[in-house]
Amino acid sequence: MRRLLKLAGLALAALLGLAVLLALGARLWAEHKRQRVVVIAVAELPPLEGAAAVQRGRYLFESRGCANCHGLDGGGRVFAQAGDGTTLAGPNLTPGGAVASYGGRDWARAVRHGVAPGGRPLLIMPSDDYVRLTDADLGAIVAYLRQLPARSGGEARIGLPFVAWMAYGFGLMRDASERVDHSVVPAEPVAEAVSVEHGAYVASLCVGCHGAGLEGGRVPGNPPHWPPAARLAPGAGSVMASYPDAESLRRLFRTGLRADGSRVAVMPFESLARLSEVDVQALHLYLRGGGTTAPSTGKAAPTPRRP
Ligand code: HEC
Ligand code: HEC
Repeated sequence: MRRLLKLAGLALAALLGLAVLLALGARLWAEHKRQRVVVIAVAELPPLEGAAAVQRGRYLFESRGCANCHGLDGGGRVFAQAGDGTTLAGPNLTPGGAVASYGGRDWARAVRHGVAPGGRPLLIMPSDDYVRLTDADLGAIVAYLRQLPARSGGEARIGLPFVAWMAYGFGLMRDASERVDHSVVPAEPVAEAVSVEHGAYVASLCVGCHGAGLEGGRVPGNPPHWPPAARLAPGAGSVMASYPDAESLRRLFRTGLRADGSRVAVMPFESLARLSEVDVQALHLYLRGGGTTAPSTGKAAPTPRRP
């Protein structure tokens, strides 16, 4: 009997030791993954300047989420902080920050593909939402950022709890460069109008959380307390049944509340509240009916890959 107990004790100790080793191994592997070099060939981004580009760039910067995480003045911002060790800050994107030396390709690679100059994979940056940005729109954002007053400081901060690093090490949480489908090409520019096509383009912004087909479900790689994202695609269980007109969708974006007054979690309302009338109406038109041109992934409209 005593021998049995002793054996069981030994087995337990061995198991515990193994678990600790696995955890430490995963943590080390996470660091190794972060240090790897990701090679992505991107085309040069045609430079844009002028008042119209700057104005469009400002609108996109504020309404597409960049300002949420990089600050309204572009100088960097802590956008998530929790008692579990989470501190996330987007870096300074003004000419005083790390992007000062960025060329057109660097912007395209970082924003659309989640890879910083030198091949450093970005982690949190939601490039999966931006891989479809047209050259004109990305160029406008860059034109806007380049003429901002240079601010100093505002470094990126990526503090995550140990379990999150473990999950990253085990491949359960993916970094930006892994989340992006690099075969997706930038969208073909469509006129900014209340049309299904333009709505599909605006909806690119929702795929990172709501899924490539806007089918909803767990937001990959995010804290377990986040509720699953709602189904936006048509079909059974689509939450769009509760949003019969563009006005109701705009109200959600402006207030963060459902029709019954309850609060919707996680959604980046700070930026969604800034979506223009045309963008909201087009988005609604697309989500409510036109959902046949497969969204935002661009897979339905095969455009030849650019050199
Ligand atoms: C959810 C928050 C979030 C949003 C939205 C977001 N970013 Fe980021 N971004 C980050 C974080 C955090 C980093 C730091 C790198 C990382 O993720 O590991 C980053 C990194 C970057 C970098 C790389 C800087 C470097 O280290 O060289 C660029 C460029 C950038 N973001 C541009 C943008 C632009 C432009 C937009 C909007 C189109 C945007 N970001 C939207 C969080 C965000
Ligand atoms: C950062 C992740 C994220 C992004 C980006 C995002 N959503 Fe959501 N969304 C969620 C989550 C998570 C929920 C579920 C929230 C809840 O149940 O409280 C949700 C819920 C919703 C709902 C349902 C609200 C209700 O009545 O229950 C709608 C409609 C919606 N999102 C539309 C959009 C649209 C349109 C976009 C793009 C313009 C978008 N979301 C972008 C994460 C996101």
